[in-house]
Amino acid sequence: MSFRIQPSPPARPNRCQLFGPGSRPAIFEKMAASAADVINLDLEDSVAPSDKDSARANIIASISDIDWGNKTLSVRINGLDTPFWYRDVVDLMEQAGDRLDQIMIPKVGCAADIYAVDALVSAIEAAKGRTKKITFEVIIESAAGIAHVEEIAASSPRLAAMSLGAADFAASMGMATTGIGGTQENYYMIREGQKHWSDPWHWAQAAIVAACRTHGVLPVDGPFGDFSDDDGFRAQARRSATLGMVGKWAIHPKQVAIANEVFTPSDEAVTEAREILAAMEEAKSKGEGATVYKGRLVDIASIKQAEVIVRQSEMIAG
Ligand code: COA
Ligand code: MG
Repeated sequence: MSFRIQPSPPARPNRCQLFGPGSRPAIFEKMAASAADVINLDLEDSVAPSDKDSARANIIASISDIDWGNKTLSVRINGLDTPFWYRDVVDLMEQAGDRLDQIMIPKVGCAADIYAVDALVSAIEAAKGRTKKITFEVIIESAAGIAHVEEIAASSPRLAAMSLGAADFAASMGMATTGIGGTQENYYMIREGQKHWSDPWHWAQAAIVAACRTHGVLPVDGPFGDFSDDDGFRAQARRSATLGMVGKWAIHPKQVAIANEVFTPSDEAVTEAREILAAMEEAKSKGEGATVYKGRLVDIASIKQAEVIVRQSEMIAG
């Protein structure tokens, strides 16, 4: 390993991020009552241009008026290619109460995008005497975003999380699909006459995880559009968790429980991880760096793998 220590990401549960349009305040209380760890009130693509001003006002009022419990409260602003984003930032920072935790910046393409928002947020924080520092999360959802993913992950100490936005990503890449995440009909290989489907989102997810882990940012899987397909959502979430992502968006409340289930280490996984740690303790006491657990090799790297699972489980429980 390089002598540079890999930084830890924020120690907060981020298993599910529940979205709701800022133009639909009737669902805000339901969002607050949900089991999602993170709430994303949206000013961007679920809000029509004619509703941007009223959605902003709805969100600002709800930040103080609604009891959001101990959830991370985040607002998705409009992209830097729109005429809306500066007003989103200024009004949120000047008018929203201290309960606001985080701003989500969509469609980021380079580190300078985050720099621009950071400069504005920092100035208003100072001017208003806001003592709680707002964190950022970003969405990688363009060719430029994935090409510059590492500099984006390193862009600001405010950056807490990074999501893959499958729909805009697919459009920007020119991918031949209208699906939002999940299995794509035409992405398969043939062996002995049988189709074997592969995962077109895999490389972008892996690139995001690597950039995030390098810089202490939480990697998150974005939306799964077909909210009637629980099995498809679960399969996508399990693949994401296997790759190192910590959570997934819900674009409908029925997806929250599945995300929480997948991104909470199971009792069996935690028990096995603790047994591996115990086996390695015993090996260490005998001066050995490797031993056998359930017929397979475990060594000093296994301690780190097991600790990932135990730490995640303790952080969620705590
Ligand atoms: N958060 C909390 N509750 C929600 C909700 C959400 N995002 N979406 C719907 N609900 C509520 C409904 O109000 C309804 O409540 P009720 O049982 O008390 O009447 C219940 O959940 C069932 O809703 P349903 O009728 O199945 O959905 P809908 O047609 O009202 O809304 C969507 C479906 C997809 C339009 C809506 O879920 C939505 O706007 N999702 C978020 C979209 C978004 O933010 N996109 C941007 C990120 S990609
Ligand atoms: Mg998008």
